[in-house]
Amino acid sequence: MKEELKQRLLELKAQIEEANYRYYGLDDPLLTDAEYDALMRELLKIEKQHPEWVTSDSPSQRVGGFVASQFPKVRHREPLLSLDNAFNAGDLIDFDRRVRRVAPDVEYLVELKIDGLTVALTYENKTLIRAATRGDGEVGEEITANAKTIRSVPLRLREKTGLATESVLDVRGEGYMPKDSFLQLNSEREEEGQALFANPRNAAAGSLRQQDSRITAQRKLGFFSYQLLQAEQLGLKTQREVLEVLKDLGFTVNPNYQVFSNIEEVVDYCEQMTERRHSFPYEIDGLVIKVNSFAQQRELGYTAKSPRWAIAYKFPAEQVETVIKGIEINVGRTGVLTPTAVLEEVLVAGSMVGRATLHNLDNIRDKDIRIGDHVLLHKAGDVIPEIIKSLPDKRTGKEIVFEMPEECPSCGSPVLKLEGEVAHRCQNISCPSRQREALIHFVSRDAMNIEGLGPAVIGQLLDKGLVKDAADLYYLEFDQLVKLERMGEKSAQNLLNALDQSKQRGLAALLFALGIRHVGVKAGKLLANRYGDIEELKKAGEEELQNIGDIGVVMAKSIVNFFEDEANLDFLERLKKAGVKMAADRKTADSQVLAGKSIVVTGSLQNWDRREIEQLIEELGGKSSSGVSKKTSFVLYGENPGSKLAKAQSLGIPVIDEQEFKKMIE
Ligand code: IVH
Repeated sequence: MKEELKQRLLELKAQIEEANYRYYGLDDPLLTDAEYDALMRELLKIEKQHPEWVTSDSPSQRVGGFVASQFPKVRHREPLLSLDNAFNAGDLIDFDRRVRRVAPDVEYLVELKIDGLTVALTYENKTLIRAATRGDGEVGEEITANAKTIRSVPLRLREKTGLATESVLDVRGEGYMPKDSFLQLNSEREEEGQALFANPRNAAAGSLRQQDSRITAQRKLGFFSYQLLQAEQLGLKTQREVLEVLKDLGFTVNPNYQVFSNIEEVVDYCEQMTERRHSFPYEIDGLVIKVNSFAQQRELGYTAKSPRWAIAYKFPAEQVETVIKGIEINVGRTGVLTPTAVLEEVLVAGSMVGRATLHNLDNIRDKDIRIGDHVLLHKAGDVIPEIIKSLPDKRTGKEIVFEMPEECPSCGSPVLKLEGEVAHRCQNISCPSRQREALIHFVSRDAMNIEGLGPAVIGQLLDKGLVKDAADLYYLEFDQLVKLERMGEKSAQNLLNALDQSKQRGLAALLFALGIRHVGVKAGKLLANRYGDIEELKKAGEEELQNIGDIGVVMAKSIVNFFEDEANLDFLERLKKAGVKMAADRKTADSQVLAGKSIVVTGSLQNWDRREIEQLIEELGGKSSSGVSKKTSFVLYGENPGSKLAKAQSLGIPVIDEQEFKKMIE
């Protein structure tokens, strides 16, 4: 019995160590949090029974993971600790009991536990000099250049507080990726055939550990600060004061914190937040309950691995088990075959799920997913159902290994996988599935925005041979439409009106609607603004296109190829004959107040985010560029401007603030 227990202990240590390495060292988790926590709890339980078995190399003695070697190492001024976990009201009440033995009149401050990664910032003379990851808690990796790309990380502290902040200050908090950025990033990666991130936390970690900080900058990360190491030296007495001071210094502090004077209220708040957990624009995995007073925190002190004055309340993991009934293939408008798992329906993160995309064959093989398998499912970014892994122990032997079809399930043409791509594609451009998806895309909101033309109607139009491609839509007649199923006279007329209206959408929307590979909404606008008319764009060569900001080699090639294809030209001709507008609503000369100006934006603006301001500059005829040079017309600066402001001043280039800019464009 005792021997067995000892054996189990060794097993647990090895498993946890391996998982730690994968999670912290490689950013490639082996276990889910829930599984990891379960192993850790089991280990702690055995070690509690047999304290004589605790060794200095036990994962229970250690805070965190490994230091990867690519980034310079930084020793933290004070180690980053982890927190003990509470999983239910009982655990919180036990925690309160322990605390009250030392601090009978305790007040708690409760914060959201953001699901990202710890970032430790160091300021000297009010200036950010270093940012580091947690690493193993003692030594982290230096990621200053990357952290500087996070807009909620102040590069310079604000003056407001009256505190002696010239000395060294260490601020810690959580770097994270908002859910919408995560979803967008993954959909772009999917489009480009790159591996997807499993969740926003991995995406944030991967982004902060980029060798190229320009990539980090595109990732739209956030940072919530919650700790100031020198708080007491500065005369602050409570965590609440710290949060207020951090705000004044220019940090983003998550607003959902509250102070309570008894544990029942804390438990209530935890339960309320459990209900609301999915309503935030970022993922949270629990709450952190902290003793508010620093004097009491000091009295409570620390165990080997965590403070006695704080605890993390962890939400129950929202992972559910289900069974894969089958795998269906969808052929998209670019011909990519996407396998989708058809599941036994289950409730997860607030809604019923019956299908989950499996992305591609590599993903299915990596996760060893078979038809008939029991699988673990969650919602990535709280939205997209995703299969985490299969549960091979539950196999009966009847499961079927999935193979990609060699022929397109829609048209029977050969399916090919090109070198260097993860996707399998149907090679037939007139494949009915591809046409159907192309039509769905053509009518979608950001494209031609044709209301009343859902997938069901499109399906009927194709099946009846009334349309072959999007141009045919504009030649449909009332008599043809009313005959469709579930289509009355009124909706037929509405649809004709919507089609008519859509002809005026303009070039930007049309370019997106055409489904030219790699041309998204943004590129559509850029091209429309630049060329004004499709005839002009047709004449553009690859090199010329590449000189337009944000248009890369791949997109330029794809645009040129599109206009070289006879079938596409014929398609455009039929759209034009139908009266579809092929020109852009370009601004008149006098609204182009920024015409010919090259503008650099630095710091955060109140009225526009980075994307919006760049768009606005372009709409007004200007060019937004990232580096200050002699060609820069002026620098527009917001709060916490970067070094670009100083550079402009040293070059004698005009600098203007947001107010002046607003006046300029009025
Ligand atoms: S306090 C000693 N507050 O959760 C104090 N941590 O184990 C330690 N986290 O990885 C941290 N939100 O990065 C604290 N509001 C919050 C937090 C938070 C997220 C993370 C932290 C660490 C883990 C705690």
